[in-house]
Amino acid sequence: MARKKIALIGAGNIGGQLAYLIASRELGDVVLLDIPAKEGVAKGKALDIMQNGGVDDFDCKIVGTGDWKDAEGADLLIITAGIPRKPGQDREDLIGVNLPIIRNVAENAKKHTPNAMAIVVANPLDAMVYEFKKVTGWPRNRVMGMAGILDTSRFSFFLAEAAEVSVKDVRTTVLGGHGDQMVPLISYSTINGIPITEFLPKETIDSIVARTRKGGGEIVKLMGTSAWFAPAAAAIQMATAIFNDSKRVLPCAAFLEGEYGYEGIFMGVPVVLGKDGVEKVVEIPLSPEEKEALAKSAAAVKSVVEICDRT
Ligand code: APR
Repeated sequence: MARKKIALIGAGNIGGQLAYLIASRELGDVVLLDIPAKEGVAKGKALDIMQNGGVDDFDCKIVGTGDWKDAEGADLLIITAGIPRKPGQDREDLIGVNLPIIRNVAENAKKHTPNAMAIVVANPLDAMVYEFKKVTGWPRNRVMGMAGILDTSRFSFFLAEAAEVSVKDVRTTVLGGHGDQMVPLISYSTINGIPITEFLPKETIDSIVARTRKGGGEIVKLMGTSAWFAPAAAAIQMATAIFNDSKRVLPCAAFLEGEYGYEGIFMGVPVVLGKDGVEKVVEIPLSPEEKEALAKSAAAVKSVVEICDRT
């Protein structure tokens, strides 16, 4: 039986961490692809990780490359190609520089890996994944964005810390675009089934919601570039659910075709992830306030998507 082949498009901070996680969990073989000028970085990271196999006890073939031909036959693409944020920038500020990059990636994906599934990570996420789908013409089950798992993991961590409980017991969900208007859902967030309102006062929860919305920016401010450990882990959770056909219910950016009242845009919603990718978009009832917050987030997503459509 063939091993899975995963092509990581972008061999930067997230790409390198993705390669390490895939190798150490033996999820499949990896192609670590960057622009020709960064081929040495891709090859160097590939060697560094493979040389770790004897110490950490894993087998994995990683090919560092600047050539899309090496990606041919990939089952899955995880796309981080693009420029990350600098302090003071919103994700939306990256559209000008990252739009030509995602177009180039999508053209190559269409040509070299026409049957692959794609998880887009590059920002501004909801617009990048939209453009990727538009250029490739791939169906919605095969194209998805990683954001919701990361946003919920931040939300869960802040709640666990404040409530002084294990983060393993915190279950949260976040809807909407991967921007400061995202909608952390208090009504669907529990500590092993117990509403978080039983553990924390409203003011604390409100300040955690605000911190979650700017959770990425907090890290950019500290490091001068964006996060990579949690983003890579989140994309790997999606890949694992697909490879194992686990039918996990996870928040991902999915192309909406009327769900939640939206059509033709990607937004974070709970989906069922299995061997066919996004197998189902799960719709949950929302309060009038939650609907209003989602509408604001959708408007922010649409304003960036419009830039894609008119540029
Ligand atoms: N094809 C392949 N790789 C590319 C291309 C391209 N057309 N254009 C740029 N890249 C590569 C860069 O050369 C760089 O090595 O993408 C890599 C991005 O790596 P980093 O700069 O380290 O950025 P990273 O932290 O990995 O984040 C990547 O994901 O979360 C988002 O906001 C983040 O948009 C950013 C992306």
